[in-house]
Amino acid sequence: MSQQIRLKSYVKRSGRLTNSQKKILEKKEYNINFFNSNKILSCQELFNNYNPCILDIGFGDGKLLTDIAKNFQDLNFIGLEVYDAGVGNILKQISENKLNNLKISNCDAIEFLENYITDKSLYGISLFYPDPWPKKKHHKRRIIDESFLNLVSKKINKGGFLKIVTDWSNYADHIIELLDENYNFAKENDRYLFKNRILTKFEKRGILLGHRITELCYKVK
Ligand SMILES: C[S@@+](CC[C@H](N)C(=O)[O-])C[C@H]1O[C@@H](n2cnc3c(N)ncnc32)[C@H](O)[C@@H]1O
Repeated sequence: MSQQIRLKSYVKRSGRLTNSQKKILEKKEYNINFFNSNKILSCQELFNNYNPCILDIGFGDGKLLTDIAKNFQDLNFIGLEVYDAGVGNILKQISENKLNNLKISNCDAIEFLENYITDKSLYGISLFYPDPWPKKKHHKRRIIDESFLNLVSKKINKGGFLKIVTDWSNYADHIIELLDENYNFAKENDRYLFKNRILTKFEKRGILLGHRITELCYKVK
């Protein structure tokens, strides 16, 4: 969709930041893990090492991402979330757990992928419960479409992975169709770092509502 205008996959929620979250975002000690995406990044530069790097898009309250980063300290993680309260929460968790392998930005994921991260620099990308935009007239806001898949396939190393979990069956069916017909991807078993992972907030909600959970993992060829 190079020249087409892409609709945002989110509506920025404002006025929800509590005073303590504001303070967290302003505190210097948390800035170590927070970066503004205004220059092209190499993961090596960002983390000062050569460990494989995974990008998580839309980490929400950040509990799953923090937990995985804590359990796999030989991997690096970048988390993107446009929801400021989520950013405030995760920075607190990172500080409490003294994590050096997890960095955060509030940049829109599309903007980040298109402008600020070098090609073939990521070991993987994960999306847990991307906003489903359930109404048909809003489907064009869903982040995962053909152009998104082409973009992420450029940023992930050969042999790296794309992991997607959703509880919206018509979104899942569409994603599977797109991935199966995209020659950059091949279906594969789940990666080791996601085995025995904790449930996310939106996952618990989906389960309570009786939604079918679809968990996908594809390799970049
Ligand atoms: C349904 S929530 C899921 C949160 C979390 N992954 C979970 O499972 O609990 C989707 C999240 O993606 C974030 N999001 C949506 N579009 C985004 C984008 N383009 N860049 C970064 N974050 C985005 C939203 O702000 C929201 O917090």
